[in-house]
Parts: sequence; structure tokens; C-alpha cells
Amino acid sequence: MKSSLIRQRTSLQDSVLEELNKQMAIEAHSSAAYLSMSAWCHVQGLVGCAHYFKKQSGEEREHQLRIFDYVTGMGALAVSPEVRGVEANFEGLRNIFELALDMEIAITERFNFMTELCHKNKDYQTAKFLQWYLDEQMEEEENARRCLELFDLITPANDGLYQIDKAVAKLNSAE
Ligand code: FEO
Repeated sequence: MKSSLIRQRTSLQDSVLEELNKQMAIEAHSSAAYLSMSAWCHVQGLVGCAHYFKKQSGEEREHQLRIFDYVTGMGALAVSPEVRGVEANFEGLRNIFELALDMEIAITERFNFMTELCHKNKDYQTAKFLQWYLDEQMEEEENARRCLELFDLITPANDGLYQIDKAVAKLNSAE
């Protein structure tokens, strides 16, 4: 399909569209990463954490589709991403919590960057759309940080891991 035809049908600027498509790929990768963490937890018998990460995986998929709907709704071409490089082996539960927090902080930085790009390009509609993600990221970071705090507060011996598993399961269960 000719890009010029696509371009005529949307007010989205190329640079903003490119970043939105890139973000869809990042959300898809996050979804796959969380599912992989869930699988690892299941094998360890940490069913509470497995449930928590599976739910996070579903939320990341929803984040991806929200961008998909926005891009297509604006008449532009959304690119369905290829997902590669998903880690399957982890050093332990604390390592997973660290990776999850790093991932969420990196995603927040992405939305800050994209919002700034929108303002530079006077694309206030997309900046408004991105505000939902900035609000969502506060919660995502808070939960990820809480997982690490719980790990460090509760002694990570066998009984400790059991308590951590139960506590983490409650974090996103009410949403
Ligand atoms: Fe879609 Fe957890 O950021």
C-alpha cells in the first residue's frame, strides 16, 4: 500500500505514528515477558505470583490494543509487532521483581518521551491520549516496587517465599 495514500487519511504525523507503533511492540514484548515470568513462577509452585504476572500480561496486551485502536481510529496504519527475545530463565523471584520494575520504569520514560514529542509537534490530541498511560504507569510502578519491598521485608527462606507469594497475589486481584 502506498504510504502517501495512508498519510492523506490521517492527521497523525509520521514521527508520532512511528513511536506509537514502536510502543505497541514494547507493550507486546512486556505482555510476553510477564507471561514468561508467570510460567517460571508456576514451575516453582509460586501460584500467587504466577497469577499476578499472568494478569499483568493481560493488561500489557490491553495497553497494546488501546494504541492499536487509537492509531486505526485516526486512519493510520498500525503495525502488528513481532515479539522476540523473551527471557524464560530467571535467577529467582527477586530477580523477576527487579526485571519487572526496570521494565515499568523504562515504559514510563517512553511515555514521557512520546508526550514531549507530541507537544513539540503540536499534536495535542495524541498527548491527551497518552495521559491515560502516564496515569496507569504510576500504578504499574507502584505494584512492581511493592513486590520488591515485600520480598525484602519478608525473610526469603521457604516460609518467607510462601508468605511473599500470598501477599503478591493480592496486589492486582481487586482490579
Ligand atoms: Fe503497559 Fe506496564 O506498561
